[in-house]
Amino acid sequence: MAKPQILCVLGLSLVSLSFSSSISTSNPKVQLKSGTGEAHQELIKYGFPIGLLPTDVQSLSLNHTSGRFLVMLGDTCRVTLPPDNYLATYSKKITGKIVDSRIAEIDGIRVRAFFKWWGITGIRSNGQDLVFEVGVLSAKYPSKNFDEAPDCEGRRASS
Ligand SMILES: *[C@@H]1O[C@H](CO)[C@@H](O)[C@H](O)[C@H]1NC(C)=O
Repeated sequence: MAKPQILCVLGLSLVSLSFSSSISTSNPKVQLKSGTGEAHQELIKYGFPIGLLPTDVQSLSLNHTSGRFLVMLGDTCRVTLPPDNYLATYSKKITGKIVDSRIAEIDGIRVRAFFKWWGITGIRSNGQDLVFEVGVLSAKYPSKNFDEAPDCEGRRASS
């Protein structure tokens, strides 16, 4: 009986930790890493961590009424997603619809899993976790894994 209680206490402290970190991320005084800009700021405003977009964003068009957006990257981009090291690719042009804590109808982000490339169609946030939707399937990861915008691989030395 002791073990479940310990786990519960641990879980609670994890929740409060990620709460305080999400508060500091949304603080506008926090210095954003160079290479992050307007598109990353918008992610924070809509309840998402900046790590969903790579640093190589060239432009953002966002209609605040409909939530429709267009993100242009400098080029196609490949990153490795934590914590399971899934390969993901971004098209040069990424479109979708963003509302509070939910991004839908995403076109332009693909992830490699089970020997296939899958288009990520939606991403939901509950503050603590992100739920990635691939068609009818979904996978949940802690938001704190995405606190930094990744650099595209191949532009800098990578292992
Ligand atoms: C933004 O979206 C709204 C609602 O769909 C639409 O009425 C409006 O024309 C759009 N604005 C622009 C600048 O596209």
